[in-house]
Amino acid sequence: MSESAKLSFKGQEFEFPVITGTENESAIDIAKLRASSGLITLDPGYKNTGATTSAITFLDGEEGILRYRGYRIEDLAEKSTFLEVSYLLIYGELPTQEQYENFSKEITHHTLVHEDIKKILEGFPSNAHPMGVLSSLICSLTAFYPDSLNPVRNKEEVDMSIVRLIAKMPTFAAWAYKNEMGHPVNYPDNALDYCSNFLKMMFALPAEKYDVDPVVSAALDKLLILHADHEQNCSTSTVRIVGSSQASIYASISAGINALWGPLHGGANQSVIEMLEAIKADGGDAKKYLDKAKDKNDPFRLMGFGHRVYKNFDPRAKIIKKAADDVLEKLGVNDPVLDIAKELEQAALNDQYFIDRQLYPNVDFYSGIIYRALGIPTDMFTVMFALGRLPGWIAQWKEMRENGEPIGRPRQVYTGENERDYVSMNKR
Ligand code: MLT
Repeated sequence: MSESAKLSFKGQEFEFPVITGTENESAIDIAKLRASSGLITLDPGYKNTGATTSAITFLDGEEGILRYRGYRIEDLAEKSTFLEVSYLLIYGELPTQEQYENFSKEITHHTLVHEDIKKILEGFPSNAHPMGVLSSLICSLTAFYPDSLNPVRNKEEVDMSIVRLIAKMPTFAAWAYKNEMGHPVNYPDNALDYCSNFLKMMFALPAEKYDVDPVVSAALDKLLILHADHEQNCSTSTVRIVGSSQASIYASISAGINALWGPLHGGANQSVIEMLEAIKADGGDAKKYLDKAKDKNDPFRLMGFGHRVYKNFDPRAKIIKKAADDVLEKLGVNDPVLDIAKELEQAALNDQYFIDRQLYPNVDFYSGIIYRALGIPTDMFTVMFALGRLPGWIAQWKEMRENGEPIGRPRQVYTGENERDYVSMNKR
């Protein structure tokens, strides 16, 4: 027996179907709300509004559950690799050995980018934020692969575009960093695995031998897995709505990168380190800033604590916390900024004020700490988030296209002036 929900309004009663997902989440299907009642719903930030059905990621904010295609994030972070998780998110199943080898080989074969893209890169000043460079270089792929411009007609091209995106994103990310440093770019080294190749492109210098630290590469692979998808977050919703107009996947992903850039979303990990550096510059008194965070008259807020969706803890943060401790210990990192982070973390986990307000360290808090320990500069942190989130964006875009979803076009409640006549300027 299918469920339904009733709405009464101005003496009339309206009934709408309720759909229930495979994890027993229910939603009122209001597709016919306006046609039947003249009403629309209003939900700024869409906190109570489902934009779609999806089979990719399930999360439960109350229980701290996160699964990709049904697999627990804890298992994938411990046992899988970022490329295998990318395949899982995009194609729905874990790959066989042969599928994985073909996928990896395709990606390795496409890490190189057209030489003319270096001319685009050279047009950016060295103070350009790497997120702006990254979104521009990704969008420039529409120029080099014009067949990608119509994803509806060119399904084979979409699969090729998916490989190019995963293959070239690390190259673009590393080149954005090199542009900022004023250093010559490094070309991909296809003898290396995905994360090692990225690290070498980032940090290798001319005339110097660069050996990738396997501890760093393994930590980075785990971080990318943890960031790979997160259902209908701001940047994923952006990718979906841009793609819903039948824009190319490159244009959609470029839009997602720009949405992720904001400090309230992917920029949060950059804001965490900037907060810690400000505390250090002000004498390093963590307790002073914890008291400021509790003072409702003080505008200071702790960055990297709490989460819009997770009410008690962010499952990714638990995994990253352990990875952070391992990496800091193995690399023997001794950094006063990270000491301040530890003080804030202990307070947030033990101080009733923060516990009562569910202000626990989230994934951005720990990812900022690890990226800093790995030697990744602060304004590259959100680029790292984008590198991890790429397969999730691709999977969500592909699902939206394959489900033939309509163009996204929300309604509004108008609150402006009622009709009025134009008055010529000399009579105003
Ligand atoms: C994410 O992973 O996208 C962030 O936690 C933000 C979110 O899910 O809203």
